[in-house]
Amino acid sequence: MYNSKITGLGKYVPENVVTNHDLSKLMDTNDAWIQERTGIEERRWIKEGSEDTSAVMGAKAARIAIERSGLTKDDIDFIVFATLSPDYYFPGCGVQIQDMLDMPTIGALDVRNQCSGFVYALSVADQFIKTGMYKNVLVIGAEYHSNGLDKTTRGRSVSVIFGDGAGACVLSREEDNTKGILSTHLHSQGKYADKLIVESPSIGHWVPEILNAKDQDISYFPYMDGQFVFKNAVVRFSEVIMEGLAKNNMQKEDIDMFIPHQANLRISQFIQRKFGLTDDQVFNNIQKYGNTTAASIIIALTEAWEEGKIKAGDNVVLAAFGSGFTWGSVIIKW
Ligand code: COA
Repeated sequence: MYNSKITGLGKYVPENVVTNHDLSKLMDTNDAWIQERTGIEERRWIKEGSEDTSAVMGAKAARIAIERSGLTKDDIDFIVFATLSPDYYFPGCGVQIQDMLDMPTIGALDVRNQCSGFVYALSVADQFIKTGMYKNVLVIGAEYHSNGLDKTTRGRSVSVIFGDGAGACVLSREEDNTKGILSTHLHSQGKYADKLIVESPSIGHWVPEILNAKDQDISYFPYMDGQFVFKNAVVRFSEVIMEGLAKNNMQKEDIDMFIPHQANLRISQFIQRKFGLTDDQVFNNIQKYGNTTAASIIIALTEAWEEGKIKAGDNVVLAAFGSGFTWGSVIIKW
């Protein structure tokens, strides 16, 4: 069995900055409410007319990650793409990457696990490398939320939270099994699927029905029971980090860098306090980007690395929770 390690990181966010003040012109909200509840100051939303989509942003981030890994697109053996906002209902974004990057006809897989999408995608890629099937896997998380949000007062409790963006990494074979991804931990609880959901379009609620219902039908906007999600998130984040630490005989004191899914700054701060971590041991950038769902961990990891906050030998913990519910963690020896 091999280990896998991250050999290249990249990110791309659209240029268009949308501040809380900008949102207050679209709906009844204000900067104080949003900052106090979520920590978000601004997010990036793709501008109308831009070429960007989840796949296009993912390709931009992927090119950077591949270049930084020192490999070429022809060295990549497999693509895993995590998103809840694919360009098409089908096919998935993974195959678009294969085409956009002009790659050989390698396999491409989409992961549909929402906020824990990147953790799941990394885990899938890790298994392919562990077994020796692939040597270099491109893992992408990207979201184009802004076009699917209810930007009226009706949708304000959800739409102020989400942002667009993409991140990518190259995961490569590591012969030294004390380095790289040490373990991954994945969970789900479908009983709570309806607490954070986009119901339509779905096979049971297809396009003609939606068109007939017109404005009365809000099933195509994300619905979230915010307080219920918050309460479950703080419990599951803690559990799955503990599970990862225990598996590797680590204590919370062994964490050098914690990169949480950027759901809400209050959730990250709660976990930080619970695990006794300093500000330097937790990386947050939700203030700038909002919740970019499957892209959030990989954008944050890329920025933390770019800022020199992760050193060789560090124990890096990634953890996510989101719609499904699904949650997971990854323990990495950098
Ligand atoms: N601006 C101003 N007021 C708003 C608002 C907005 N954007 N959104 C909601 N409100 C209002 C509500 O209508 C409500 O008003 P009322 O008391 O008159 O009915 C009030 O603010 C409180 O709403 P509530 O939904 O109870 O707020 P909250 O404190 O639970 O915060 C969230 C809402 C969404 C920020 C919070 O629940 C949360 O972050 N949950 C977790 C979300 C998350 O992490 N999601 C991603 C998981 S991956």
